[in-house]
Amino acid sequence: MITKAIIPAGGLGTRFLPATKTTPKEMLPLLEKPAIQYIVEEGLKSSLKTFIVITGKNKSVIEDHFDPYPELDAHLALHKKEELMDGVNKIIHASNFIYLRQKEPLGLGHAIWCARHVIGKEHIAVFLPDDIIVNSNTPCMGQLMQIAMQEKCNVVAVQEVPIEDVGSYGVVGIRKQFSPNLFQVKELVEKPRPIDAPSNLAIIGRYVLSPNIFNALEELNAGVNGEIQLTDAIQALLLSGEKVFAYKIQGTRYDVGTPLGLLKANIDMALRHPKYAQPMMDYLASIDREMIVMQGQAQSLSKMKHSSGVML
Ligand code: G1P
Repeated sequence: MITKAIIPAGGLGTRFLPATKTTPKEMLPLLEKPAIQYIVEEGLKSSLKTFIVITGKNKSVIEDHFDPYPELDAHLALHKKEELMDGVNKIIHASNFIYLRQKEPLGLGHAIWCARHVIGKEHIAVFLPDDIIVNSNTPCMGQLMQIAMQEKCNVVAVQEVPIEDVGSYGVVGIRKQFSPNLFQVKELVEKPRPIDAPSNLAIIGRYVLSPNIFNALEELNAGVNGEIQLTDAIQALLLSGEKVFAYKIQGTRYDVGTPLGLLKANIDMALRHPKYAQPMMDYLASIDREMIVMQGQAQSLSKMKHSSGVML
């Protein structure tokens, strides 16, 4: 049985400054919910029950978000608006949260290692909260857990990325392909140069890992960027004889740790949401018309410049 998930949320969120100076990036909103709520919802849908959140400075609002707030509930009940908090309250009743502090920013691997004392001998799920996956019929983590339990192995989620982008990811090399989406992994390389990459299958922020990952992390030296890398620890598990599978996930993945990624995810989610789809489509269509007008103006401006011989 896999029941526990680790969510490393200690990072400084530098790609989103200054918004993240005081607001954790995990709390930035996707429609009306903070990003981390989608992660916990995916976990619950995958039948995980305990969420171990690795936090750091300025992250206590994450704890507040998943904490009961009886005064607010009473106020909403009075105004018959309880449904506004239904989603969060369901999560609070269905899950256990454990918060641990990452005392130093030594990398993703180090963040995961911080949970070593609260994990027993069972496999664990790991969610990177920057990666939000939408439009997948079954929750992404549920798909990985099924493979991990069947094959008694480690599983990482992957997606194909353009080869010039592999340097932003952990990348897997393939030993064997079992089906269009399932592979046995031969090697894992963190942030390779395109020329050194074993493939263009990039690790996306969902993992199911054997508890031996903590020993592997314990013995690891700093890797790329001087950080303890989770990818290197999984490679160490592979070398110790454990099986690692890669599962090409269905659905669209957004990196909501960047302004553009969060914007794209918001637009995509709005277009799939019963309340926001129509107003968002109307708005996008109006932008489209404005763009056509602007492009038309730009074209006639450029014609005028050429005909008058002005060089800008
Ligand atoms: C981390 C992992 C990397 C993975 C990526 C997915 O990198 O180290 O292996 O591919 O997340 O989002 P980061 O984005 O923290 O640099």
